[in-house]
Amino acid sequence: AAPVIIAVDGPAAAGKGTLARRLAQALSLPYLDTGLLYRAVARRVLDAGRDPSAPGAEAEAHALAPSDLDRTDLRTPEVDRAASLVAAQPAVRAALIEVQRRFGRESGAVLDGRDIGTVIFPDATVKLYITASPLTRARRRWAQGLDVAPVDGDQTAHIEAVAAQLAARDAADSARAVAPLRPAADAVVIETDAMDAETVLAKALQVVRTRL
Ligand code: C5P
Repeated sequence: AAPVIIAVDGPAAAGKGTLARRLAQALSLPYLDTGLLYRAVARRVLDAGRDPSAPGAEAEAHALAPSDLDRTDLRTPEVDRAASLVAAQPAVRAALIEVQRRFGRESGAVLDGRDIGTVIFPDATVKLYITASPLTRARRRWAQGLDVAPVDGDQTAHIEAVAAQLAARDAADSARAVAPLRPAADAVVIETDAMDAETVLAKALQVVRTRL
């Protein structure tokens, strides 16, 4: 039988990672966070003192080693922006296609990202598109303690600023010419504004089970 591929796409901080990890566990499949690949390329470009919007970042993509993905400095606001910039470079995306396909081909996988269902695995067994409003996503980050407002700062203003940054990254990811962020035509869209993580997992498992 063909390996089972579950594609989990959607905008930044929508809970794709949490969902994809839990789905992988529930289905005994390997899990790959593909955003980490772009973050690791961006980290290398920044470390080299280069401009992430300048063409040529595919050199860093070709040089990626597994240990690059274990770095603890891949989730800073600077890397958020730089990852989105290197991800818009067609040569960077081309350099990362094969490693993603190889990961899934052997024994199946759950992969989360932006273009898994549209470009990397257009024949995925199941395609999920996980989304929520920017404000919901910013609030969740705040509630999880994943970002911190300035001491004595205005929390509401801070959350709104984070929401604006998320919306800007989504706009850039959606507007790029190659592999833009969008749901595949055959993706099941899960709008999670009114759901907690358990409910999202239950809904996703329901969809998966109808297709296995
Ligand atoms: O998912 P995450 O927020 O870690 O991704 C960081 C950036 O990497 C995204 O903003 C996007 O520009 C890029 N990315 C992508 N395609 C993927 C995964 C991530 O372009 N499959």
